[in-house]
Amino acid sequence: MKFFIDTANLDEIREAYDLGVLDGVTTNPSLMAKEGISGHDNVIAHYKAICDIVDDNVSAEVIATDYEGMLKEGRELAQIDDKIVVKVPMTKDGIKAIKTFTAEDIRTNCTLVFSAGQALLAAKAGASYVSPFIGRLDDIGFDGLELIGQICQIYDNYGYTTEVLAASVRHTMHLLQCAEIGADVATCPLKVITSLLNHPLTDKGLAQFLADHAKANG
Ligand code: E4P
Repeated sequence: MKFFIDTANLDEIREAYDLGVLDGVTTNPSLMAKEGISGHDNVIAHYKAICDIVDDNVSAEVIATDYEGMLKEGRELAQIDDKIVVKVPMTKDGIKAIKTFTAEDIRTNCTLVFSAGQALLAAKAGASYVSPFIGRLDDIGFDGLELIGQICQIYDNYGYTTEVLAASVRHTMHLLQCAEIGADVATCPLKVITSLLNHPLTDKGLAQFLADHAKANG
């Protein structure tokens, strides 16, 4: 299973990368705004800075909502670095743009996916990744994890190579259940990844080992 970090914060990306288990980064316009990144050149420079930290898979989202605009923006984003994956919203123009990007060997991440039908369209258009949003479905009383299972099943049935990128992952149980279901990737905040480290019996056991060692060694 790949781990992506869902942030545009360079310190958090560095910290996750230094842990040695990071496979990529997802950003979105809200996350970029949260870091105060605005203006064309600053946005491009920020994506480049992210690419310089990680090994691969940096999702950079288009702002345009029309087909031609998405193509222009996505092509420019793809030029920044080979690590860029162009993130495209799940709309009619978005699906057409994904089809065109695929033909141009530009990797894509189809975002804002909330149904199995949308995920099927993304796969048929050739998306590299599909991003179903678990937490946001849970927020409105639907089962986000059930959707991950449905999409994995459908992709398995037909051998689609689009990777299921579980997004809007809010806590460790989301992450672990995605792993059980077989999602290819989960993207989440840094704290969800680091909280996988913790168990009280690990802390207790380590304290005991160190105390016994100190006793024996004076
Ligand atoms: C995915 O690519 C999105 O950036 C993200 O996972 C959204 O998460 P949220 O619903 O917690 O904002």
